[in-house]
Amino acid sequence: MEDSTSTSSLKPKTWGGFWDIFGDMLVDLLDIKEGANVLDIGTGGGAILYPAAKRAGNSGLVTGVELCDHCVKATTDQIERCDIKNVKVLLMDASNTGFDYHSFDYVTAGFIGWDDYFDFQAHKYTKEDLLMAEIGRVLKPGGLIGITTWLLQEDLDWMYQFLERHSILCKRNYSIENEKDWREIMSASGFKDVQVASESATYTYESIEAWWKEMRDYDWVLEGKDDDVITDSLKDDAFSSIHAHVTDEGGVQFKRDALFVIGRQPIPK
Ligand SMILES: C[S@@+](CC[C@H](N)C(=O)[O-])C[C@H]1O[C@@H](n2cnc3c(N)ncnc32)[C@H](O)[C@@H]1O
Repeated sequence: MEDSTSTSSLKPKTWGGFWDIFGDMLVDLLDIKEGANVLDIGTGGGAILYPAAKRAGNSGLVTGVELCDHCVKATTDQIERCDIKNVKVLLMDASNTGFDYHSFDYVTAGFIGWDDYFDFQAHKYTKEDLLMAEIGRVLKPGGLIGITTWLLQEDLDWMYQFLERHSILCKRNYSIENEKDWREIMSASGFKDVQVASESATYTYESIEAWWKEMRDYDWVLEGKDDDVITDSLKDDAFSSIHAHVTDEGGVQFKRDALFVIGRQPIPK
């Protein structure tokens, strides 16, 4: 992949894989303009942050906010290592940022989950949406919000089914969302010109070990510690059961589908 920053010749290390694929897609869909001031909510490994910074250029600024301190530290280390000037990441809850009113041209939120506010099974809000209220507060009139959310994660579904076949009760790591509920959320939050689109991507982990390492970053076990339950013999069994997804080159290929939701902050008449 080409360098995703405007100000550095070094390439920052991200989470890679599906994160980067869908991060690039969101930034392209938003068509972020040079000089833009961008807020990236739930920056994680920077899959949206860096391509947004590349588009915003030296006259723009991308601010990432994150609740997870090790994500902030890892991403800040990459920003410093690559000497990227138009990006910063702050440890902060996006529902209460303290940024000035109407200060951002774009707000992005990649796969941060809206379950705290909205029940996608019951199709209704469960409490006041403080996050959307804050996004609406900091977005300029005419500014764009862009959100990605999961529709399908074939690799995680494979793991749920595999673990359940071994009588291991899993925590579900994502809820399946849908266009209708997202249109309701956007409309309830006052955004206009709402566009919703789904996109698919396949990604090939370079080896079975690389795929397993990615899967082990998730918290799978309902009760008890993952390491006590996901043993080496279970890993061996996973490796021999995964063959349908193994490519001729020995990689492991899965598909994910994401929903892209874009809306515009109304311009007062
Ligand atoms: C699944 S990661 C996605 C990372 C990145 N946006 C991407 O698309 O690759 C979601 C991140 O959002 C962060 N997050 C969730 N709610 C947040 C909030 N209210 N404020 C700041 N960060 C939040 C989590 O800590 C997590 O690192």
